[in-house]
Amino acid sequence: MFVSSVLWLLLLSCSFSFGVESDINCLKSIKASLEDTLGYLNSSWDFNNNTEGFICNFLGIECWHPHESKVLNIKLSELGLKGQFPRGVENCTSLTGLDLSGNMLSGPLPHDIDKILTWVTSLDLSSNSFSGLIPATLSNCSYMNVLKLDNNQFSGNIPAEVNQLTRLKTFSVANNLLSGQVPPFGENIASIRRDSYANNPGLCGYPLKPCPSISQKKSLNVVRVFKSNGVTMVTAAGFDELQQPRVCLIWSCTRTQLNKTPAGLSLQIIHTKLDELALFLV
Ligand SMILES: *[C@@H]1O[C@H](CO)[C@@H](O)[C@H](O)[C@H]1NC(C)=O
Ligand SMILES: *[C@@H]1O[C@H](CO)[C@@H](O)[C@H](O)[C@H]1NC(C)=O
Ligand SMILES: *[C@@H]1O[C@H](CO)[C@@H](O)[C@H](O)[C@H]1NC(C)=O
Ligand SMILES: *[C@@H]1O[C@H](CO)[C@@H](O)[C@H](O)[C@H]1NC(C)=O
Repeated sequence: MFVSSVLWLLLLSCSFSFGVESDINCLKSIKASLEDTLGYLNSSWDFNNNTEGFICNFLGIECWHPHESKVLNIKLSELGLKGQFPRGVENCTSLTGLDLSGNMLSGPLPHDIDKILTWVTSLDLSSNSFSGLIPATLSNCSYMNVLKLDNNQFSGNIPAEVNQLTRLKTFSVANNLLSGQVPPFGENIASIRRDSYANNPGLCGYPLKPCPSISQKKSLNVVRVFKSNGVTMVTAAGFDELQQPRVCLIWSCTRTQLNKTPAGLSLQIIHTKLDELALFLV
């Protein structure tokens, strides 16, 4: 009985101190990886004090219990922080909320972000300069209620799998460089409206305007036709089948060779006048 109690206590204290050590390392790594342009972390995050729970008094840190160094939330909005997404967050293993909004963070999000933010219910990365694709693995963060990625430079499609986040209440990707079909949340999540998607160059699908049908999707609009010495030059712009904008396709062809072009496109004359051509991908 006594032996087993001692063993149990030993086990408890092992896992306890492991968690705490890991969370302290998490914050050390975050501090080391970010450029603290206004000196907020420098003055508040002092790792020389070893009182139990000392990190719970750090600026922007909330712990599960005030005297236990186990981080519940990290709230570092508008602190002039620069750098990439702080990967060290992965060692705050009980984290439920991460707010890095309104800083100068840049670069892509880690592709395995689901391993870093496993239990997170709220992620706010808005108003930074993050870029690249929104990782599809975010859809594995199944506790997510709030996901704010607005006002960044994310590009490409929004992964359709994001609609597997069944607890999502708030979702915003406004003011990015996104295109293509929005995730098929349907009408189930009333709070996800047009505003969530505002100011992106090419998003479509409910609650936005429907995505173009197949034939429309493939069409490109001729914007200019030039003719000199019997050679016709065509420039075109439009959207391809992934709704990515394609601009300035330029090639030349004589009138008798109009059906095949170097770009693998065919030209179809729908009007006899050369300035009213329509292009179709084949
Ligand atoms: C960090 O803070 C210390 C004193 O608190 C100061 O001497 C030092 O210059 C600061 N470093 C930076 C990079 O702001
Ligand atoms: C160390 O941290 C504890 C708890 O946050 C605080 O009460 C104490 O004043 C700190 N000691 C020093 C020397 O900063
Ligand atoms: C997280 O902790 C592990 C174990 O201490 C360490 O090897 C790893 O480098 C840490 N991760 C980061 C990003 O600092
Ligand atoms: C979710 O995680 C599993 C296991 O790691 C992985 O196989 C799957 O591809 C992930 N889902 C997405 C959409 O990335």
